[in-house]
Amino acid sequence: MTVYAIIGGTGLTQLEGLTITRSLALDTPYGAPSADILQGEFAGHEVLFLARHGHPHRLPPHKVNYRANLWALKQAGAQAILAVNAVGGIHPAMGTGHVCVPHQLVDYTSGREHTFFADELEHVTHIDFSYPYTEALRARLISALAAEGVPHSEQGVYACTQGPRLETVAEIARLERDGCDIVGMTGMPEAALARELELDYACLALVVNPAAGKSAAVITMAEIEQALHDGMGKVKATLARVLTV
Ligand code: HPA
Repeated sequence: MTVYAIIGGTGLTQLEGLTITRSLALDTPYGAPSADILQGEFAGHEVLFLARHGHPHRLPPHKVNYRANLWALKQAGAQAILAVNAVGGIHPAMGTGHVCVPHQLVDYTSGREHTFFADELEHVTHIDFSYPYTEALRARLISALAAEGVPHSEQGVYACTQGPRLETVAEIARLERDGCDIVGMTGMPEAALARELELDYACLALVVNPAAGKSAAVITMAEIEQALHDGMGKVKATLARVLTV
């Protein structure tokens, strides 16, 4: 049986319905992860859970210790990572409340600790990252979304920006020209680090606002929080189904 780990993003610092059996306070060669890793049962299945931004939510995207998080999950026995990310919608199909299972990404972040292959190397390692998400895991997410009747896109290009500020209208126009469909701040280096550790990895992205310039209004935190509140039910139902099918 595959051991799944869920990394909860903004709006998912706690996984309701998770019966916690152990709380693992792990340390890693890269420092401490964002929070204790919770081991327990969700939808009748053993699962690991980590709040990406800490619990309570306190770490902005550029301060998350992605290396410690992935290392600790691997140490706890994770084999496959289901990453939940809140995003802004760029493509017209990506309206608020829509769910996208991205198949590609573009990394616009800078200055983040982004590799395990940095120090004390015996030889230089270049992982293949042509297809950043694990196709079989994406397929499970897509089937679960279909079974739950959640409006979703089976593909999309995720732009990862540095944050914590949101983008300018010109920046979003550039991301759109680059072929990006959704924009978030936490997809990288998480996906690449998972690949370096040979963990399966896929992303469930919930659109919580139109990206800058994609609606007449400015983006407010109230709007984002409302969309997170409205959308998390279907995200949790989808995760439960992924574990059970
Ligand atoms: N941009 C970047 N990250 C985000 C957004 C956005 O519009 N919404 C939620 N996360």
